[in-house]
Amino acid sequence: HSSSSSSSSSSYNATQQRLPGAIIIGVRKGGTRALLEMLNLHPNVEVAKAEVHYFNVEEHYRQGLAWYRAQMPFTLPGQLTVEKTPGYFASPQVPARIWNMNPAIRLLLIVRDPAERLVSDYTQVLHNRLSRHKPYQPLEELLLHKNRINPAYKALQRSLYHLHLARWLEVFPLEQIHVVDGDALIRDPFPELRKAERFLDLPPRISPNNFYYNTTKGFYCLLSAGHDKCLDESKGRPHAPLSTQAFKKLCRYFRKPNKLFFEMVGRSFFLVL
Ligand code: A3P
Repeated sequence: HSSSSSSSSSSYNATQQRLPGAIIIGVRKGGTRALLEMLNLHPNVEVAKAEVHYFNVEEHYRQGLAWYRAQMPFTLPGQLTVEKTPGYFASPQVPARIWNMNPAIRLLLIVRDPAERLVSDYTQVLHNRLSRHKPYQPLEELLLHKNRINPAYKALQRSLYHLHLARWLEVFPLEQIHVVDGDALIRDPFPELRKAERFLDLPPRISPNNFYYNTTKGFYCLLSAGHDKCLDESKGRPHAPLSTQAFKKLCRYFRKPNKLFFEMVGRSFFLVL
């Protein structure tokens, strides 16, 4: 019995900041925030609220693991720490860096129809530009050159999932990467969360009662211990317009990359929209 000792309440409770046991590595606009908040419903999970950008931003990485750990939430022994940084997925230097930290780490990748993702990506950049009173080209100007898809457009490249995943698979076995279906997560989050719990070896604690469809928002929101939480207005904003013709061209462009991605993970996605 050590009640006479002057240990701090944090050491009494054994809460500490710990390195993550799982990381949501992307994709940008795939539903990474929704997935993180939904995993946080689990009593054994604590999440880093802000995006950490440790492995992909040199000035952070240079500060080492002490800095990384300091970005993490306080947890009890046995709780799982999770962080999400969507920029990790498409950054070539990141897989080996994560492996060097912990070769047994579990990785979560949430994907979404690549054409939808691209439009969402453009819409976010447009929004950021406009809020800083900066102009931005219309989507079609970036996407098409002489009426053909412009392969140099960055948001297009970020939707070529097979290219990025190939680099991760040079470092990690596929068993360590769980792919979440972001389109399914929008339509009906619970089944995707149950699969994620299983992948993370967590006892099943998230239930369908943790979710309700908010008709105003047009998305599922979260219920936990009497609290009601929807993602903020930066999630689910109206997409920038794109002609049906250009969108179809885009979908056609992604057909082969999608097929390669499905072969890589041994599963199909983006079937029902
Ligand atoms: P849109 O804004 O294009 O609709 P990220 O968090 O990776 O930036 O992903 C944002 C996307 O998460 C949103 O894209 C939205 O469609 C999706 N999303 C999934 N579930 C959601 C939810 N319950 N509430 C709001 N957005 C959700």
